[in-house]
Amino acid sequence: MAAMAADSEDPQLGEALLACLDGELMPSDRAQISVTDEGLLRGDGVFEVARLYAGVPFALQEHLDRMERSARNLLLPIDRASLERDVRSLLAAQDAGDRLLRLLVTRGGRRIVLLERLPEIASSIALAYVVYSPTVVLDGAKSLSYAANMLAGRLARQRGFDEALLVSPEGRVLEAPTASFFWVRDGQLLTPPLDDHVLDSITRRLIISCSQAREAPVQVDELAGAQEAFIASSVREVLPAHRIEDLRLPECGPLTAEVAAKVRGEIAQRLAQERL
Ligand SMILES: Cc1ncc(COP(=O)(O)O)c(C=O)c1O
Repeated sequence: MAAMAADSEDPQLGEALLACLDGELMPSDRAQISVTDEGLLRGDGVFEVARLYAGVPFALQEHLDRMERSARNLLLPIDRASLERDVRSLLAAQDAGDRLLRLLVTRGGRRIVLLERLPEIASSIALAYVVYSPTVVLDGAKSLSYAANMLAGRLARQRGFDEALLVSPEGRVLEAPTASFFWVRDGQLLTPPLDDHVLDSITRRLIISCSQAREAPVQVDELAGAQEAFIASSVREVLPAHRIEDLRLPECGPLTAEVAAKVRGEIAQRLAQERL
């Protein structure tokens, strides 16, 4: 299919970023759904964000697997085959490059796939604690109800930090609003356990599988002993934290650099295999 007509302010692409709404391709700014959709009215629905490398989605099947699990947990019917078809037609219609792919299914039954720009990603960030109580009934569901996560980031930025580090009311360190959290103590890479109601992140799984990282619960005061820390997600890969509140950390410690290189290597290797 031919690329869509130029219709965007994106200087790099010179073309509108595309949407696929219930199987129909259109520029994203023309894609519309009803205001009565409970996806909007109540944040009721599921979503995923995958990263595209030179137009190829990384770990798309894992994202769709998680989307199916999220939907099952929300008692929301979704049609995986149609979502896969939507992604294929979106990627065939536009030379996507290094972008993001956002997939949503709303309670109103709308299927939305969006091609988005990658956000600017700093080389390291400062994290601020924000108290956050996971909604236990939503465990294992990456639902559209992300207002609390978005607010946490905003509260951190209001205090001059880059991102929030979510901490439970009991003082347990959890994750960032849209990324997993890792830290190094005595040379050991640690990450909070899924039992603490953090998201079963695809990047977190990848890091655990290709490093010596182990799950361990962590209280805020224990982070005083951190030598390194980073957050990790599909969008931001491994992103070092040079500061957590008053605690200064290296811009990018040795173990962080090693894990970041391993993650990039794994991504490159898997994308190369998928291209074969
Ligand atoms: C709460 C939360 N934790 C962690 C992550 C990272 O998950 P993934 O590595 O699958 O992108 C995300 C991603 O959106 C998230 O929303």
